[in-house]
Amino acid sequence: MAIISSKQSDADEGADKPVQEAVHKKAAAAKKAELSAKKTDLLQSEAKPAELSRHEEGLRPSAISDYIGQKALKEVLLIAIQAAKSRQEPLDHLLLYGPPGLGKTTMALILAQEMEVDCKITTAPALERPRDIAGLLVNLKAGDVLFIDEIHRLSRVTEEILYPAMEDARLDITIGKGQSARTRSIPLQPFTLVGATTRVGALASPLRDRFGLVQRLRFYEIDELTQIVLRTADVLKTEVAIDGAEEIARRARGTPRIANRLLRRVRDYVQVKQLGAIDQAIAAEALTLFSVDPCGLDWTDRRLLTLMIENFNGGPVGLDTMAASTGEDPQTIEEVYEPYLLQIGYLQRTPRGRIVTPAACRHLGYEAIHSRFALPDAPLFNLMSSAEDR
Ligand code: ADE
Repeated sequence: MAIISSKQSDADEGADKPVQEAVHKKAAAAKKAELSAKKTDLLQSEAKPAELSRHEEGLRPSAISDYIGQKALKEVLLIAIQAAKSRQEPLDHLLLYGPPGLGKTTMALILAQEMEVDCKITTAPALERPRDIAGLLVNLKAGDVLFIDEIHRLSRVTEEILYPAMEDARLDITIGKGQSARTRSIPLQPFTLVGATTRVGALASPLRDRFGLVQRLRFYEIDELTQIVLRTADVLKTEVAIDGAEEIARRARGTPRIANRLLRRVRDYVQVKQLGAIDQAIAAEALTLFSVDPCGLDWTDRRLLTLMIENFNGGPVGLDTMAASTGEDPQTIEEVYEPYLLQIGYLQRTPRGRIVTPAACRHLGYEAIHSRFALPDAPLFNLMSSAEDR
């Protein structure tokens, strides 16, 4: 359970007094029904381990030419690959950051494929003891890619082992303890570290500075996700019309992992209901059944926004207050929910806390009557007249 910190009181001072009594009864009842609906994790962008192995493996593109989207990143990487290959050197160390589900692991695997080397995949929490990382490093062959997911979670000791390994292909290990401790250096094969993180700011700067390339993955556009859905449908041998793929793409929060997951759910629906190809109407029907709204918001997104509107008059609300009010972990709100809400302009971050925008307000059926930006002290929402009143 999140603890309400000083952040909350700062934000609460900035929030206007709740005006719950002004919420129309019908609107409030509709919201309550929505809030009590069963939570779905269909839209979670973090992969479950089983999903990674069972579903994602077969769907990943294996060449950079098959990778849809992330145009700027691909351009940078293609140059780096070509240059490294012509010098017969390993690729420079690469840090990939961005929200979950955008293809960081896929990109690391593609890089290894393009460089014609092997890729070892691990995650920072699995590298607790010095021997965990040492074991991986000594087994790398020249040019291999070592992919470390959630690299911001590395322990200090592991980080310190990585520094000489990244810079000088050297493993410094300490043998013994106290006064008799000695350091030995073991030469390593030069390798490429690909680190992935959702929180680049949480990385220790000495580690961040050792990456020659630091690249961000962006949310995908609808047309890119449509192509991804069509490609996956092809792999899964599922018939999808372009408008069906577009409908899935629109609800996929800019995230290929979610798009592919939604496609699998719609495929189940079509199979059980014995329908034909997935078109726009079928996709919309199936995804509405799964509580995925037309903007791709799920139960938790809607709950976060609704709470901010109803209990805090749209904000500003501190992160810890949001966490305490919803029972979600602050880090999950910050890393999983907020990026997409910020991206689609439903949430804004201000020094005093988060605020809900008029667009989010309208989407949820509340009518925004004032612009907080035009009238800084005016309440953002007219809770008297929700869209359901009309
Ligand atoms: N599947 C998941 N992500 C993909 C991407 N970026 N391009 C092609 N297929 C994908």
